Amino acid sequence: MTLAGKRVLLIVAGGIAAYKALALIRLLRGAGCGVTCVLTRAGAQFVTPLSLQALSESKVYTDIFSLTDESEMGHIQLSRAADLLVVVPATADLLAKMAAGLADDLASTVLLATDKKVLVAPAMNVRMWQHPATAANMATLAARGVAVVGPDEGAMACNEFGPGRLAEPPAILAAIARLLAPAPQPLAGRHALVTSGPTHEPIDPVRYLANRSSGKQGHAIAAALAALGARVTLVSGPVAIADPPGVRVVRVETAAAMLAACQAALPADVAVCAAAVADWRMANPAAGKIKKIPGAAPPVLALVPNPDILATLCAPGPARPRLVIGFAAETAELRANAEAKRARKGCDWIVANDVSPETGIMGGDDNAVHLITAEGTEDWPRLPKSEVATRLAARIAAALA
Ligand SMILES: Cc1cc2nc3c(=O)[nH]c(=O)nc-3n(C[C@H](O)[C@H](O)[C@H](O)COP(=O)(O)O)c2cc1C
Repeated sequence: MTLAGKRVLLIVAGGIAAYKALALIRLLRGAGCGVTCVLTRAGAQFVTPLSLQALSESKVYTDIFSLTDESEMGHIQLSRAADLLVVVPATADLLAKMAAGLADDLASTVLLATDKKVLVAPAMNVRMWQHPATAANMATLAARGVAVVGPDEGAMACNEFGPGRLAEPPAILAAIARLLAPAPQPLAGRHALVTSGPTHEPIDPVRYLANRSSGKQGHAIAAALAALGARVTLVSGPVAIADPPGVRVVRVETAAAMLAACQAALPADVAVCAAAVADWRMANPAAGKIKKIPGAAPPVLALVPNPDILATLCAPGPARPRLVIGFAAETAELRANAEAKRARKGCDWIVANDVSPETGIMGGDDNAVHLITAEGTEDWPRLPKSEVATRLAARIAAALA
């Protein structure tokens, strides 16, 4: 992603998540974007002007009554020089000031004096976020065209759980990129179904069968399809990575639950089955924890096959997505096995990858895939999983055009 030549005015307010603004500055600078920071008085309790200045490589503004800055009407100039104003974290307080049109410090004055697009990334305690006052302020700001990213749901610094966590810096970067350089949306109006991650098949209430899938490739594909304008439903097994931005996530554990979630999500124009679905599950998962009895033989795990999600989605009928793409994770005879899988399952394309341990692909950040279609097999170079996803999404858009 490039934001070369663009300039963001980053307003850092006084929330515990202010430290994540530092990570965002690094991402923005890495994308070639210029960053100028305004730090509120409360914000300076959480991060220092020096950190912001060092990372942004620009002067940091904190005071509206600075003679040197205001000799040039700094509060007006700051917004004029920016392509976008971004508030990270947006505190309940600053959002309220914005909604009310208050201008009692540099941050709120700049936000009132601007005619540029504004993006806010709220972060606060779940009760502050759910308070009717904050909800009303957010509605006011949305009606005025202020863009919002997050907040996410999850564990909070205040030991509570719920919506209110700052969106992760990569998601904020993606939102900034969408506002600064709106990408073409060839998949607008399309629904994409993506599966990702492993499945967990219970052995008993505490143990399960699983595999080493991280979900990185499937999640990246969901994000890439969303970036091209698709409405994306991501059915994900248990993973330890963040939800992709702009995607509806349905969390499941077992293959049976994944199949049910996929069927409930239909109709879809395209289905990408990137999840590493367990082939087998326990014939009879134990209702209680299986006890280790000294001297007794270990239990024999009787397995039965799981439903075949890819084959089910490929079955001819009105609900079949126009394009169904499967993944083949193999450790031997990659191309031959993958070509056979495409024919056997009746899917349109197979993305084949070698998951032998020495490749580092399972769980890693890179992937080397072969795209197998009716026209033949393409060998793609080893690429970051995000780039594999971008290329695949572009191919999907072309196929559905
Ligand atoms: C330790 C601590 C953490 C805080 N975290 C948040 C927060 O995450 N979100 C929020 O809206 N306010 C938070 N506050 C309250 C704000 O700092 C306070 O409302 C302040 O006036 C905000 O000023 P500003 O909006 O000008 O930056 C926190 C306060 C403290 C002392």
